[in-house]
Amino acid sequence: MGQAACSRDFLLLLTLLGALTGAGARRSEPRRAAVGMNVLFIVVDDLRTSLGCYGDKIVKSPNIDQLASRSVMFKNAYAQQAVCAPSRVSFLTGRRPTTTKLFDFNSYWRVHAGNFTTIPQYFKENGYVTMSIGKVFHPGISSNHSDDFPLSWSIPPYHPSSEKYENKKTCKGKDGALHANLVCPVDVLEVPEQTLPDIQSTAEAIKLLQIMKHQNSPFFLAVGYHKPHIPLRYPKEYLKLYPLENITLAPDPDIPVDLPPVAYNPWTDIRKREDVQALNVSFPYSPIPQDFQLLIRQSYFAAVSYVDTQVGQLLSALDDLHLTNNTIVAFISDHGWSLGEHGEWAKYSNFDVATRVPMMIYVPGMTADVHPDSRMFSFIDPLSYAPDQVPEGKSRKIVVELLSLFATLSELVGLEVPPKCPETSFDVQLCTASSSLAAYINVTDDEEKGFVESVAYSMYPRPSDTPQWNSDLPDLKDIRIMGHSMRTVDYRYTLWVGFDPNTFNSNLSDIHAGELYLLEVDPNQDHNVYNRTFSETLFMKILGLLRK
Ligand SMILES: *[C@@H]1O[C@H](CO)[C@@H](O)[C@H](O)[C@H]1NC(C)=O
Ligand SMILES: *[C@@H]1O[C@H](CO)[C@@H](O)[C@H](O)[C@H]1NC(C)=O
Ligand SMILES: *[C@@H]1O[C@H](CO)[C@@H](O)[C@H](O)[C@H]1NC(C)=O
Ligand SMILES: *[C@@H]1O[C@H](CO)[C@@H](O)[C@H](O)[C@H]1NC(C)=O
Ligand SMILES: *[C@@H]1O[C@H](CO)[C@@H](O)[C@H](O)[C@H]1NC(C)=O
Ligand SMILES: *[C@@H]1O[C@H](CO)[C@@H](O)[C@H](O)[C@H]1NC(C)=O
Ligand SMILES: *[C@@H]1O[C@H](CO)[C@@H](O)[C@H](O)[C@H]1NC(C)=O
Ligand SMILES: *[C@@H]1O[C@H](CO)[C@@H](O)[C@H](O)[C@H]1NC(C)=O
Repeated sequence: MGQAACSRDFLLLLTLLGALTGAGARRSEPRRAAVGMNVLFIVVDDLRTSLGCYGDKIVKSPNIDQLASRSVMFKNAYAQQAVCAPSRVSFLTGRRPTTTKLFDFNSYWRVHAGNFTTIPQYFKENGYVTMSIGKVFHPGISSNHSDDFPLSWSIPPYHPSSEKYENKKTCKGKDGALHANLVCPVDVLEVPEQTLPDIQSTAEAIKLLQIMKHQNSPFFLAVGYHKPHIPLRYPKEYLKLYPLENITLAPDPDIPVDLPPVAYNPWTDIRKREDVQALNVSFPYSPIPQDFQLLIRQSYFAAVSYVDTQVGQLLSALDDLHLTNNTIVAFISDHGWSLGEHGEWAKYSNFDVATRVPMMIYVPGMTADVHPDSRMFSFIDPLSYAPDQVPEGKSRKIVVELLSLFATLSELVGLEVPPKCPETSFDVQLCTASSSLAAYINVTDDEEKGFVESVAYSMYPRPSDTPQWNSDLPDLKDIRIMGHSMRTVDYRYTLWVGFDPNTFNSNLSDIHAGELYLLEVDPNQDHNVYNRTFSETLFMKILGLLRK
């Protein structure tokens, strides 16, 4: 164990001592949670809804499916911007990117936008021990190079030591040499430190659970898994779950003829990997050769099964420690990932494949009955289980946003729900832009409680009308166009309008392009009918959002 880990344990001990003697709360007396449940918050990086529980027929994800079967699963959950830092800062503060002012990776909201309270900070201020493992905040300036420690966390966040090799040349190529590839199945015994980041994160999380088991304070443990983010670097045995002959191309691998160029993301990060560079694919529109498309899809799915193993081990440890009867488990991803749909790869767009996320919440006694003698989460080895073993759980069709996590988790543990934000909220430290979903979780029957017309908003910035080298992730100063998108059960509607990076204003009189997809007839969003059915009502709804 390294020195960093030792000092973290020491700090954890001090924190716990502080909490036990009441010295932990500085601002006010800790309001002890009425229910006092712990929270295990699992955030997966770049995981789209390619999971068994979301109906995927290829992906093997038995442990996440098992979690879904004990949870309420939201089938229509969306990220507010399909890229890591903006999405994470948005759901962790409960504010939209328009309020965090973060559309790229380059600013810290407390300095740049407002001193907004985060979910873990709120729990910490209310008597919880809050801990971060792996990638929860995006690292770097967007979380002050500290994952927002100490405001958000009781102890210094943990980062797996093997993370530093992620982008190094550790992937064995056909030539026998090591490369920095996109597709990177590895023999774990041959990689540096003989481990991978997510394996280390699981071990560290289990260690913290063992310590917390014996404490009186409730905990909020956030565990951020790195895969299936690129590079697709995972233990090679997971490949056997996905024989190439079983892998298909995306159902719609071509760029739709009526796709506005501003909507297209040219997947620059993929192109930078050595194996993709070797394909000589021309920028921005030439497709990746089909056999390589299959390899990417195969490795993405394999990386998902590898993460599923981590989730299974973590949840089974929670169960071993008899913590499943007083721990809420929230499972999400920060955004999705295109796997060749519309000729696109990676995130960086407003399409469902990039904005839709898995989201499920397990609440003991509420989403599943707790029996002292039976297990809630047994580990199921994705490499050797019999498919169809996992029953379906409760799910909700209501369209929801990641933003609602703040209010939802607060309500579920019995903390006061932060108030709804006023129209302008830069000066308001504690408020959220979305309401609690607890009412959709705390229902006894399988029926959706009433019908609520709901909307999920996402946005994506661009530097210009046509794809450039920086179209995927423009710096704030280069943003000229903002794609404001709304998703209902029936349609996705996106308006690309002029944007001023100095004032942060979207100019609704300056429309660059529009997209409208009618999902009943076009679930994959390949037929843009914007021109034909442009509707003033939809326009006004977007306008309403921008004024918030
Ligand atoms: C931000 O809020 C935290 C927590 O309330 C407080 O400790 C800190 O001083 C505030 N920072 C600024 C710049 O207001
Ligand atoms: C950001 O980190 C720096 C250096 O660690 C620290 O001095 C500063 O107070 C932090 N900023 C905020 C707003 O917490
Ligand atoms: C591959 O597809 C075949 C034919 O559908 C199926 O029998 C087999 O189980 C699949 N293999 C895996 C590992 O899923
Ligand atoms: C890509 O271009 C390089 C240099 O022009 C060439 O050597 C190589 O054979 C090309 N590869 C493919 C797959 O076309
Ligand atoms: C949870 O289970 C443990 C062991 O079975 C038991 O000691 C504890 O009282 C239970 N807690 C709750 C809140 O039911
Ligand atoms: C869940 O619903 C039950 C029955 O309606 C209610 O008594 C309980 O307070 C609710 N719990 C939460 C956390 O909303
Ligand atoms: C908004 O766009 C319209 C149309 O391009 C333009 O005439 C107007 O000056 C713009 N407004 C601002 C504030 O930039
Ligand atoms: C949409 O309508 C405008 C104005 O009538 C027209 O110039 C444009 O070509 C149309 N675009 C499509 C894709 O039909």
